[in-house]
Amino acid sequence: MNGETDSGYLPGSNSQAVHCTATLVEQRQMARDTYCMRLQCPEIARQILPGQFFMIRDFNSNDPLLGRPFALFDIYYDESGEPAGIDFGYLVVGKLTSLMPDWQPGDQVEIWGPLGNGFPPPTDGHLMMVAGGIGQTPFLAVAHEALGIRRYGNLPRELENLPAKVSMCYGVRSSEFLAGLSEFEIEGLDFQVATDDGSAGHHGFVTELLEQSLQSSEKPDAIYCCGPEPMMRAVADLSQKHETPCWLSLETPMACGFGACFSCVTPVREADGEWDYRRVCVEGPVFPAEQLIL
Ligand code: FES
Repeated sequence: MNGETDSGYLPGSNSQAVHCTATLVEQRQMARDTYCMRLQCPEIARQILPGQFFMIRDFNSNDPLLGRPFALFDIYYDESGEPAGIDFGYLVVGKLTSLMPDWQPGDQVEIWGPLGNGFPPPTDGHLMMVAGGIGQTPFLAVAHEALGIRRYGNLPRELENLPAKVSMCYGVRSSEFLAGLSEFEIEGLDFQVATDDGSAGHHGFVTELLEQSLQSSEKPDAIYCCGPEPMMRAVADLSQKHETPCWLSLETPMACGFGACFSCVTPVREADGEWDYRRVCVEGPVFPAEQLIL
């Protein structure tokens, strides 16, 4: 039942999220321990927005029992130009992802989504995306939307003004972990790389590239960030120092993905100065940086 929906909606989530069985179309290695998988699932491809995610489980095995969240890399289209499925990147860490490189074209995958809120629609000015490690995966679709190359969602959201400038800084430990560089060769995208060991691009942290940009005459007007927590904490500090709005996408472990299990809660500051827990899978994964207690 390739791509067929077996549940109209998932309780507690976006009311259009579906639970279906998707067919693996292809997968390829993008970098060391990093792969890109393509799944045929038009119901999700038609709806998903940049920064949203979906959950995946092995259709044929209960080990591991729980699914795992993955962010949209991009959608792909069929011959008639209709959204046919999704591409997503993953890093091999833990049980499910260590099994996934062996999955073959034609295999069935249990999937539910789209889930979460995604990044806010880009607005005019200078949009800066900051990615660390596998945290680059949400930003291909963000870049395509911000540059006016693609639109996403059943009812594509109205973008009043596209950003005048779109930039991305992408940091990894060393060049062998750089994934998806050819995909990010997009006309109009100002793209810079940083490596901790200096094997490619800027020798140092990606936050140093961000700070250079924040100190330049073309200072970003908004920052979208995804990556390891220490990096996101540094990006949040820089955004506060330079009074630049910033949104962080959390990479929190999740069990259900639609608000039922509370395994994904994170403390969030309230407007009155108090704090409370929020479910990252429903109220996130994207939060304004000033709300998060990292
Ligand atoms: Fe279950 Fe968020 S993963 S509530």
